[in-house]
Amino acid sequence: MKEEKIRKKERISSAKGKLGVLLPGIGGAVSTTFIAGVEAVRRGMALPIGSLTQYGTIRLGRRDENRVPKIKEFIDLASLDDLEFAGWDIYEDDLYQAAINANVLERDLLDKLKDFLEKIKPYPAVFNRNYVRNLDGRHVKSGGHLELIEAIKEDISDFKEKNNIDRCVMIWCGSTEAYLEQKGVHQSLKNFREGLERNDPDIPPSMLYAYAAISSGIPYINGAPNLTIDTPALLELSKEHEVPIMGKDFKTGQTLLKTIIAPGLKARLLGLEGWYSTNILGNRDAIVLDDPGSYRTKKESKLSPLTYILQPHLYPDLYKDHYHKVTIHYYPPRGDNKEGWDCIDIFGWLGYPMHIKIDFLCRDSILAAPLVLDLALFIDFAQRAGLYGIQEWLSFYFKSPMYKEGLYPEHDLFIQLMKLKNTLRYLMGEEQITHLGMDYYIE
Ligand SMILES: NC(=O)c1ccc[n+]([C@@H]2O[C@H](COP(=O)([O-])OP(=O)(O)OC[C@H]3O[C@@H](n4cnc5c(N)ncnc54)[C@H](O)[C@@H]3O)[C@@H](O)[C@H]2O)c1
Repeated sequence: MKEEKIRKKERISSAKGKLGVLLPGIGGAVSTTFIAGVEAVRRGMALPIGSLTQYGTIRLGRRDENRVPKIKEFIDLASLDDLEFAGWDIYEDDLYQAAINANVLERDLLDKLKDFLEKIKPYPAVFNRNYVRNLDGRHVKSGGHLELIEAIKEDISDFKEKNNIDRCVMIWCGSTEAYLEQKGVHQSLKNFREGLERNDPDIPPSMLYAYAAISSGIPYINGAPNLTIDTPALLELSKEHEVPIMGKDFKTGQTLLKTIIAPGLKARLLGLEGWYSTNILGNRDAIVLDDPGSYRTKKESKLSPLTYILQPHLYPDLYKDHYHKVTIHYYPPRGDNKEGWDCIDIFGWLGYPMHIKIDFLCRDSILAAPLVLDLALFIDFAQRAGLYGIQEWLSFYFKSPMYKEGLYPEHDLFIQLMKLKNTLRYLMGEEQITHLGMDYYIE
């Protein structure tokens, strides 16, 4: 990204007008919980708990200045009233029915929102069963890669026209695709474009959505662990069109807790012998993950944070050879209410062992919905500020945050939050907070 392209403070263009949120996988648990939730908040029926853009504050200047505005008052973000929603799914249920099927929100709440939800109907999806083997929806488009990209663009134009939309963002909330190694076709935009022409099977649906969005100037967020935009080809496309992108895989549930606890253990230099994590859940996401191909994509994403946080190469006595295992099991009775167990074997002074057990009875989509909201608003803000390419300051939201080649990803939740807020301070011309504080005491 070129520094002169960044528009700071009053040069950041206004959030006025309608923001369209485009969701591949709009009929899924995360999308429906997000959309129904936004509407419930707009109607004053519920609170947007868990959302940094709605509740977060940011300290500015010295501590004794007492300047701590809400983030949404500090920067110009789209208001909830200006959000409109559209998307694609392989099932044609409208969003009222889809939300009932997802079985996350109470029926009573959904019935009150029925008039709004039933008006949102998914566009037919771009789908390939080779990438999601355990689902078989029929609400799908047909055609070669280039035709499918054009069809996605037509859907976007249709939505924009009918709803008077000014700007759009796209957030992948579709299923996890089967594991895909980076191949030649992903290595450059030229190769990728040739791959589109010959309908290369190594280009999965998520890449077609991403290509359609980015080449239309629409920012793209990847909520799943899919490879998609984490490839030189699509990164190049985002630079060519000066569009911000970020992924991968929303950080909720067990990995969220891991990236809260591990930095604490490391801060106190407590050693780690092993960390065993296992989950049971029974939603549609879990059916998809029951396929070894999709599971592999997820597993890779869940394993890496711990090593990056603990930095065993810098602390061999504490973290070298720690054993880390993560498993996910499909167990229908639990639905979306996942249960995650962690068994953490640590050691302290003189190597004496200790044990931590966690039993997190969480709700997957309840944790994910506020992240979708924040990401929609922040990635739109990024674009209005002239930022493009990888948005590392949004790492806070991801299990496998994307990063520039030659760097390493930052997984520590607290550093990620500091990075996010410092980016906002930087864009708004405020001093970075260093937490030094010596000047209060030097007399
Ligand atoms: N819920 C969480 O806490 C969480 C956390 C991290 C990542 N994720 C990821 O977010 C995604 C959504 O999760 P979910 O719980 O809503 O899953 P879900 O199975 O309920 O929803 C996914 C939806 O995507 C649809 N779909 C699949 N392929 C599609 C395609 N090619 N085009 C359009 N639609 C398609 C499916 O029909 C389904 O309705 C998954 O990839 C999941 O791994 C979820």
